[in-house]
Amino acid sequence: MITLKSAREIEKMRRSGAITAATLSMLVGAAKAGMTTRQLDALAEASIRERGGIPTFVGYHGYPATICASVNDEVVHGIPGERVLCEGDLLSIDIGTTLEGYVSDSAVTIAIGEASDEARRLMRITQECLMLGIAQMQAGNHLSDIGHAVQRHAESNSYGVVRDLVGHGVGTKMHEEPQVPNYGEPGKGLILKPGLVLAVEPMINAGTHKVRTLKDGWTVVTADGKLSAHFEHTIAITDEGPKILTLREVYEHADAALYRPRGEAA
Ligand code: MF3
Ligand code: CO
Repeated sequence: MITLKSAREIEKMRRSGAITAATLSMLVGAAKAGMTTRQLDALAEASIRERGGIPTFVGYHGYPATICASVNDEVVHGIPGERVLCEGDLLSIDIGTTLEGYVSDSAVTIAIGEASDEARRLMRITQECLMLGIAQMQAGNHLSDIGHAVQRHAESNSYGVVRDLVGHGVGTKMHEEPQVPNYGEPGKGLILKPGLVLAVEPMINAGTHKVRTLKDGWTVVTADGKLSAHFEHTIAITDEGPKILTLREVYEHADAALYRPRGEAA
């Protein structure tokens, strides 16, 4: 069942999204070589709770942490632990907040210290894929227009679009209908309506689109061991167009500098 959210519900989701956004921005600033992913997880939990939210992921199908911390060839769902972050690592951080019963879900990929030009390019294109997908979230468009925009941009840059995992509706539950694939032909499926709230989350691989899950039952890695990036926002479709409920405002501009090839101006 697909539920449309009222303006009141979207306002609650925006306040949930603000906690997710602030926490994600804090984590982007805090993540440094020498830290463990478990330390980042503790910072995330404290930030969400201080702001009055509940970490959505804890206990979700038994998931044991507040964030997913996925490094290098890990695509998503890396479990925080004793892994120490190293200079040049690519780190995807995914978090969810529940506030007054409403969930927001967002993810970014960053470099620890200086990343290679190859890693920067992957981050930049993946972030652009997310934004191009969001730009399709206009009332009257079809659901598949989102995934089509993502796939076009990724594949025209010779990257692989993960198919085994998809975006989703979000609201009082983290995963609601519809599923939002990051690929497909345009003009197919559901017609987008105001009140629909989606988590759009391209997972883009430097090599093959194929992935596998590690023995821990959670961590998804690329089949060829190459790098992967993941960006996610929670977005409401409104009469005025898409409204990003997890927007990190000025921070997104600041982060863009991280993805630019060294020496290239804004
Ligand atoms: N953003 C992820 C998703 O949309 C979060 C799920 S991780 C889990 O699927 F641990 F909570 F399952
Ligand atoms: Co999600």
